[in-house]
Amino acid sequence: MKTAICPGSFDPPTNGHLNIIERALKIFDRLIVAVAVNTAKQPIFTGEERVDLLQEIFDGQPKIQVDRFEGLLVDYAKGRGVTTILRGIRNMSDYEYEFQMALANKAMHPELETIFMMTEGRYSHLSSTIIKDVIQYGGKASEMIHPIVEAALKKKLR
Ligand code: PNS
Repeated sequence: MKTAICPGSFDPPTNGHLNIIERALKIFDRLIVAVAVNTAKQPIFTGEERVDLLQEIFDGQPKIQVDRFEGLLVDYAKGRGVTTILRGIRNMSDYEYEFQMALANKAMHPELETIFMMTEGRYSHLSSTIIKDVIQYGGKASEMIHPIVEAALKKKLR
């Protein structure tokens, strides 16, 4: 069974994330969507809240498992017995950051392979940061985030 871990902050999950996950199901039999800590970011949702949001969104989809971890991604992958990481890429600045992370992870865990999937053009402008601003200042975000995420963000930010 081909399994990949799709790690991220998911603070909050965007339609760009959801699109990558859904398209990846054509390649992998099972995806572990893993909420992680990015030390460079100050989250607005707790890890538990992000897991709850993703679980609600993927409810009834047995090929997707939502989980959470702290510490290094390589250690989490070893613990889960998975050697494939899936990450989405929107643009060249994502690429540079992703390239560096993939190489660092590979140096720590040589059996680990990182697979990149390009975003669909209609999602390339989306970022969790932009979405937080749109919601906070009353903009229309229905094409950017799932209704479950929109409701949770409104409750948190307004
Ligand atoms: O959605 P993000 O914030 O771009 O995801 C980045 C994330 C969480 C995947 C990355 O920061 C990560 O893997 N964090 C876990 C700690 C770790 O392994 N850091 C070293 C990465 S080389």
